[in-house]
Amino acid sequence: MAHEIPRDILENHAALAKEVAAADIAYHQQDQPLMSDAAYDERRRALQALEAQWPALKTLDATSQKIGAPVAAGFAKVVHHVPMLSLGNIFADEEVAEFCARVRRFLGLAEEAPLAVVAEPKIDGLSMSLRYEDGELVTAATRGDGAEGEDVTANVRTITEIPQHLRGNPPDVLEVRGEIYMSRRDFVALNARQVQAGRPVFANPRNAAAGSLRQLDPAITATRPLHFFAYAWGEASALPALTQRGMVGAFASYGLPVNPLMTLCADAAAMKAQFAAIGTARPGLDYDIDGVVYKVDDLALQQRLGFVSRAPRWAVAHKFPAEQAVTELRDIEIQVGRTGALTPVARLEPVNVGGVMVSNATLHNEDEIARKDVRIGDYVIVQRAGDVIPQIVGVVMERRPRDAKPFVFPQVCPACGSAALREIDDKGVADAVRRCSAGLTCPAQAVERLKHFASRDAFDIEGLGDRQIEQFYADGLIHSPADIFTLAARDAASLKKLKDREGFGEQSVKNLFAAIDARRRVPLNRLLYALGLRHVGRTNSRRLARHFGSIDALLNAVLGDQTAAMAELTGIDGLGEVVASSLLAFFAEAHNRDAVSALLAEVTPQPMEEIVSASPVAGKTVVFTGALERMTREEAKASAERLGAKVSGSVSKKTDLVIAGPGAGSKRTQAEALGVEVISEDEWFARITPA
Ligand code: IVH
Repeated sequence: MAHEIPRDILENHAALAKEVAAADIAYHQQDQPLMSDAAYDERRRALQALEAQWPALKTLDATSQKIGAPVAAGFAKVVHHVPMLSLGNIFADEEVAEFCARVRRFLGLAEEAPLAVVAEPKIDGLSMSLRYEDGELVTAATRGDGAEGEDVTANVRTITEIPQHLRGNPPDVLEVRGEIYMSRRDFVALNARQVQAGRPVFANPRNAAAGSLRQLDPAITATRPLHFFAYAWGEASALPALTQRGMVGAFASYGLPVNPLMTLCADAAAMKAQFAAIGTARPGLDYDIDGVVYKVDDLALQQRLGFVSRAPRWAVAHKFPAEQAVTELRDIEIQVGRTGALTPVARLEPVNVGGVMVSNATLHNEDEIARKDVRIGDYVIVQRAGDVIPQIVGVVMERRPRDAKPFVFPQVCPACGSAALREIDDKGVADAVRRCSAGLTCPAQAVERLKHFASRDAFDIEGLGDRQIEQFYADGLIHSPADIFTLAARDAASLKKLKDREGFGEQSVKNLFAAIDARRRVPLNRLLYALGLRHVGRTNSRRLARHFGSIDALLNAVLGDQTAAMAELTGIDGLGEVVASSLLAFFAEAHNRDAVSALLAEVTPQPMEEIVSASPVAGKTVVFTGALERMTREEAKASAERLGAKVSGSVSKKTDLVIAGPGAGSKRTQAEALGVEVISEDEWFARITPA
């Protein structure tokens, strides 16, 4: 059933689309911008947000879909209406059966119940989302942060293997997802050409594919041989099959390339056998793979299993064992991180580890150096697995030189000279990590915090990368997050302009200021994450943003009565005492409070980026009680959260809805006494299933 679009929404959409279209023409065709980049960006996002909520609007006006790169600085952003996710990893054979058991437990299936799973190679390329409308390729986007990627349509159109028009009878809207990769043979040939032309070589086929695709000039991409495998999908107006295997079969029938090695497995033993078979085939393949992906075949089960954080419960990546090599340890240097952690980094004689040149590796902490007895001058074993930072796994003792030098771990911070301490916990055990005690007065910590602040999952400020932050900090231009937002005004008033610096120019400074301006409105969860508190990562930032709804509500709580604040914070589902203490400790410090209020004078937090916004239970607090017959308790909780509801274990005045199965007792009575709505499991499904 089509939902009627309210009149004010229609009008608002038409006005925005008209403004954006006019700005596009003025900018791209006439070189006469009508508005600042920030203002443009805001309108475009508003347009996309409306169309995300009311997909029917998209057919009225496709302005938001066909916009080219707004500034020369990079690619336009594309919002993924269905987020692009990552996969959980497993390494050991035993974990295959554990995965199956987890899936069965979640679904409430018996141990011996059949569970079909497909196994296919994990391609080591870069993920891509191809949007087809009425069978025509309209947009190609990189994964980006999963919620928003880069528009690389023009470049993808140069890849001959990717059809511009789908064959057969595809759904009206279909986002095909898969991997872009370069064959090994083409990679070797490309590097030979790079050498001949005096240009730098690529480390591996993956980097070569990424570098080739992310060219601002599609003509360059056209000269690079890129390939594609379709293995997943995002938005789809209809699904042509009921299984994973059927979907991939349908992709093939539309003319999309699919990997031939996918097989259907009936149990964990078959999955392991397939893992071994693909491992054996690996050296003979002309493309890099780094493992095997297992996916529950039945799409209805996939739907029920849903996601945890950023990865599906219905799939997992079984990674091939790490690759190792031996090389000389030239030196050990200490890096000071965002939270003051002193991390020893091994400087190595560069060595090829499974196709990648490695010259740095982590040594974790001082206990690890002592345990492995690592000395400078030693021959060490370096290991690399996937995208993880290479590590030193041990020393080749037989090759230890006489003059190998034991490493003395510093007791003071190498960046600021303050004491570096190991925290002692309640049980008297020292933390493995030694930390600089100076907080933000330590320049290394301050710089790392700023880098984190501007990074992709935080404020995501284009053009303000690690290098620029280091420079600006060293020159006294940016010391705290708020300084980023006053940079343009100070630059305008200063005689020493940024544009006159080496490595900058008029256009790049203009782009930087526009990128900064565009982030003055930032989702609350990103702002919280950007503060870089210990234990407050992306997931906890979302939990906090969801619970408090606004920065004022959060500040009221954490700056008020501390016992009440602790109780409120630990009451948030999934948020423990460690996180709550970290948050309270942060706001207990005057300089942190000052930094946050200076920032809030410059930026206005927006409601959290909700993946699902228009669900009927979004924002509601629900309680499940009694026996559930159609799903396990875990599934019930996950499905409610997916729709934006909060799941609580007890009934109170704040409860909006109680779902009561047979045998429900005191919670049901309590809900009735409080006048809270009580419904059955069937009624719950009716409510959450789209009409
Ligand atoms: S499925 C919702 N299948 O691995 C699950 N991913 O580590 C979507 N990848 O971002 C992913 N080969 O870029 C899937 N056969 C395959 C894959 C594959 C490579 C990549 C993909 C993803 C990453 C996660």
